[in-house]
Amino acid sequence: MTEANTSVPIYPDLHGKVALVTGGSRGIGAATCLALARCGARVAVNGRARAAVDDTVAAIRSMGGEALAAVADCSDLAAVERMRVAIEEDLGAPELVLAFAGGGSGRPAPLADITEEDWRSSLDNNLTSTFFTLKSFLPAMIARGSGSIVTMASAGGRVASGAPAGYGAAKAGVIMLTRHAANELGQHGIRVNCISPSAVLTERTAQRMPLEQQQRILTAFPLGRLGHPDDIASAALFLLSASASWITGITLDVAGGRVMT
Ligand SMILES: NC(=O)c1ccc[n+]([C@@H]2O[C@H](COP(=O)([O-])OP(=O)(O)OC[C@H]3O[C@@H](n4cnc5c(N)ncnc54)[C@H](OP(=O)(O)O)[C@@H]3O)[C@@H](O)[C@H]2O)c1
Repeated sequence: MTEANTSVPIYPDLHGKVALVTGGSRGIGAATCLALARCGARVAVNGRARAAVDDTVAAIRSMGGEALAAVADCSDLAAVERMRVAIEEDLGAPELVLAFAGGGSGRPAPLADITEEDWRSSLDNNLTSTFFTLKSFLPAMIARGSGSIVTMASAGGRVASGAPAGYGAAKAGVIMLTRHAANELGQHGIRVNCISPSAVLTERTAQRMPLEQQQRILTAFPLGRLGHPDDIASAALFLLSASASWITGITLDVAGGRVMT
């Protein structure tokens, strides 16, 4: 479980706001949940596995924050709807929605070797989950006339190498879905932006990438290090903040300079 980084400044002030982080139980999402809670938000922590969700909720509560366990598979619309109802009853309707659920599966493979199961799972967990989250939580945001959404892409959705094609296609889809949402929702006072990280060291990625491999790929990063989950949390806080009030529809590469678009 990611520890809170006390070097992240407590900005913006999110007291009185409700945030949902899909994929908030582990890795980047968990770091973002902690950062949101440190800024005063009440946080609904989503994931599929109950134990990891409960761990992140407990970490928030132990620092005096308010959090709710919101277990659901975001690629299942009915489950997302049930989660929405539970969050609204307990915390109120979120005005900050961070659709971070997803992840890559496996190594790049020739297109003809990608199984139907892998393809569908990449699309479901990364793109469809983002769409279902927006679809379910948007009506209340529109009714309120304000809100901010951050979606999660990847360098794999920006550059056609290094990631499985299904994952890359799904993340490129998230970028375009974000633009459509921004275009449609600006009139309702809702901003929608996307973060596109390159390699961020989480428990999962650290397990998959031995130290020698981490050292080897460093040359691709002008800033000379891999990402930390707090790098992504800080970018999310910026996009949610009033400092970003004239920013919508962008994809912010938080990538140590590895991706420059
Ligand atoms: N780490 C990186 O280098 C990197 C780089 C670029 C982009 N990203 C993106 O950043 C996000 C977080 O990545 P991470 O490295 O922090 O991954 P992680 O540690 O594996 O965490 C993934 C999170 O997403 C949840 N999740 C996955 N599919 C879900 C679904 N269908 N419904 C609900 N929750 C789901 C997981 O919950 P369960 O464990 O319960 O399934 C977990 O909370 C992902 O979207 C990933 O694609 C990561």
